[in-house]
Amino acid sequence: MPSQHQVKKVGILISGRGSNMMALVEAAGDAYEVVMVASDKPDAPGLAWAHEHGIPTFALSPKGIGKPAHEAAMTAALREAGAEILALAGYMRLLSDEFVADWRGRIVNIHPSLLPKYKGLDTHARAIEARDAEAGCSVHIVTEELDGGEVLGQARVPILPDDDAETLAARVLAEEHRLYATVLADFAAR
Ligand code: GRF
Repeated sequence: MPSQHQVKKVGILISGRGSNMMALVEAAGDAYEVVMVASDKPDAPGLAWAHEHGIPTFALSPKGIGKPAHEAAMTAALREAGAEILALAGYMRLLSDEFVADWRGRIVNIHPSLLPKYKGLDTHARAIEARDAEAGCSVHIVTEELDGGEVLGQARVPILPDDDAETLAARVLAEEHRLYATVLADFAAR
């Protein structure tokens, strides 16, 4: 019997401008739908965009309440919205082991480097500094190890002689938007 096609419900976590979130929202279709955009920064520009586009939003800062309460509230809101998968899109806060365990194997992230190279911050400056010929981005499953889970897909760009961290970041970002939407659709269809 053919299995019934199911549109997976995705919650997106952001902290800032949310350009990857916008790309995911705009590419949503048969494989996934975005049911909530959540942010740890109530003034994240991406939140306003999501709200204007009719997507339920959740905004809560952990300041004053602490990480466990913040994550519990986020999980409750995401579950209430029906989220089955979480996509981190510029979410700049480390998730606790408990949160990762709660959503085990169902959180993906986009990272602006060719993992396993350059985990963490300042990836573009580090790639230029190392005189790498190319840079890129990776979508991976989130585990307890920072930027360490299974890589689901990568896109590459050349590093040009005149590049600085900013010009390289812009070239990589255009690839992030394409890659993330494609990989999330594949992941949702798994
Ligand atoms: C992206 O470069 C992403 O790879 C990194 O943070 C940046 C977020 O940008 N994790 P945006 O908020 O999606 O525009």
